Amino acid sequence: MIAHLNKDLAAELGAVIQYITYAAKATGPYRPQLSEFFLAEVADEQGHAQFLANKIVALGGEPTTVPDKVPAATTNREMLEAVLAAEQEATKGYTKRAEEAEEFGDKGLVVQLEDMVRDESGHSEETERILRDWPL
Ligand SMILES: [Fe+2]
Ligand SMILES: [Fe+2]
Repeated sequence: MIAHLNKDLAAELGAVIQYITYAAKATGPYRPQLSEFFLAEVADEQGHAQFLANKIVALGGEPTTVPDKVPAATTNREMLEAVLAAEQEATKGYTKRAEEAEEFGDKGLVVQLEDMVRDESGHSEETERILRDWPL
C-alpha cells in the first residue's frame, strides 16, 4: 500500500509542477483564462499530495520527494492535452487505489481516495470541455 501511495504522491508532486509551469507558458489571447485555470488546479493537487504524504507517514513509510516528470508541451493545445491525459490517468489510478484500500481494510483511506476520484474526474471533464471547441 505504501509503495503505491508513494507512486501517487510522485504524480501529485509532478502535477503541481506541471500546472505552475503550464500557467507560465500559456500564450495568446486566452492566456489570462488559461493561466488562471492551470493555477486554480495547484491547490487541489497540493492538497492531494499533502494527504498522501501524511498517510504514508501514518502507515510507517517515508514519503517520496521526487516528482514525476512533467510532459513536454509547447502550445496551449499540447498543454491542455497533456493535462487531460494526466487527469484521466489520475482518475483511473485512484479508482483502482480505492479498491486496494478497501482490501487493505482502511475505510478512511477509501473515502479519501474516492474524494480524489471525484476531484480528478472534475478536472478532467473541465479540461475536456475546454478542448472540445479549441481553435486550431
Ligand atoms: Fe490530484
Ligand atoms: Fe487533478
